[in-house]
Amino acid sequence: MIKVWTGVAEAGRLGRQGPRGTAFAYTPDAQPERAVSLTMPPRLASWDVPFGLAPIFEMNLPEGVLRERLRLAFAKATGAFDDFDLLSIVGRSQIGRLRYTGVEDKLDVAVPFQSVDEILASRRDGGLFRYLMDRFAAFSGVSGVQPKLLVRDEGAVALGGPGDRSSIRGATHIVKFWEPEYPELATNEYFCLRAAQRCGLEVPRFQLAADGRALVIDRFDLRPDGSYRGFEDFCVLNARSTADKYRGGYETSILRRFREFASGDVVAGDSERLFTLIALNCALRNGDAHLKNFGVVYDDVDQVVSLAPVYDLVTTTAYIPADTMALTLGGSTRWPTAKRLQSFGETRGVGGPAMVRAALERAGDALAETAADVRAHMGQRPAFADVGERMLQAWSRGAIDSLGLKTGFG
Ligand SMILES: Nc1ncnc2c1ncn2[C@@H]1O[C@H](COP(=O)(O)OP(=O)(O)O)[C@@H](O)[C@H]1O
Ligand SMILES: [Mg+2]
Repeated sequence: MIKVWTGVAEAGRLGRQGPRGTAFAYTPDAQPERAVSLTMPPRLASWDVPFGLAPIFEMNLPEGVLRERLRLAFAKATGAFDDFDLLSIVGRSQIGRLRYTGVEDKLDVAVPFQSVDEILASRRDGGLFRYLMDRFAAFSGVSGVQPKLLVRDEGAVALGGPGDRSSIRGATHIVKFWEPEYPELATNEYFCLRAAQRCGLEVPRFQLAADGRALVIDRFDLRPDGSYRGFEDFCVLNARSTADKYRGGYETSILRRFREFASGDVVAGDSERLFTLIALNCALRNGDAHLKNFGVVYDDVDQVVSLAPVYDLVTTTAYIPADTMALTLGGSTRWPTAKRLQSFGETRGVGGPAMVRAALERAGDALAETAADVRAHMGQRPAFADVGERMLQAWSRGAIDSLGLKTGFG
């Protein structure tokens, strides 16, 4: 049995049910603000799932090498190893405001200190990932296939604030690495995020290690006092499991769903931002913009629900030239033309023709400016030149086809 916390209070208990399922029951007196998800309000009946975990509990489970590493380290004891076991291991240190402990346990966690500056300076060279893996794997309740860890740099938390004094010393940053299959992925993402920033989108602070091996990103769900905001990705909002993250279309699974859950005062502005992000993803040729790469944030379930800051932008066609979109637009995963995006924005209530056109233009300008940065970086770091060149080719085609730019960046 697992005790589920929202913030620092118990919300309910999660247990195994049947051969492969789980059931979650709220504590009998759970008030609406204890909800574990916008999609699962407190109720008397339990929330049952025949296979695995409900999407909100599955949301931050490690994938890729991190999952494999935890399995190897912890499976010995139990023989079998499933999502429920994995949740008990990484449950105290998660993205968002949910935490998981043993039924009798207090909610405490002390993520070891790790200087972000040391990561950025790359002093440990190729051994850095293994070193961090040894120390932080069990504190890394974070999804995604790329190798990554959650770490804590105390500079990010106000000294003397609750996060500094309390028994909860949580993670402050995400450190992303890359495998040889996707060379220079950190630098690729770095420049894609920079383009998003130039579009006027909210992007958490992101820093590239001197040798390009790691990208360090500030957690956008961390509050200055060391506590955490709510976060839910679009797998959760669509009641889908992680395995179905590539299933869905922008019209319904992203835009409509967003409008369903976003608060009234932010929905117009955030729909425009969401549209800009979708258009930018197309122009960047990001074929991995699936349901888990969009999300919403809130201080509490009864507070303002808004679009999450931007994360995980990558030009995937730099590695997979024929890659197409992860989600459909107009029923197709082909990269859309600017005309298609324009009519998508206009017909789905994002805004009038002028507003939608302005968003596409802004994305085009942002890409053009960032292309110059990519070019400059290629000159400084020859190891990046090959991937950089492919990125620029992809962006040129993307900006011309999907944003309506007249010329590319060749
Ligand atoms: N800056 C951030 N703050 C908080 N959570 C984040 C941030 N960036 C990403 N996440 C969460 O971490 C998950 C994995 O990060 P992501 O960059 O998408 O990795 P991957 O490239 O492996 O998919 C995301 O799906 C999201 O839930
Ligand atoms: Mg991702």
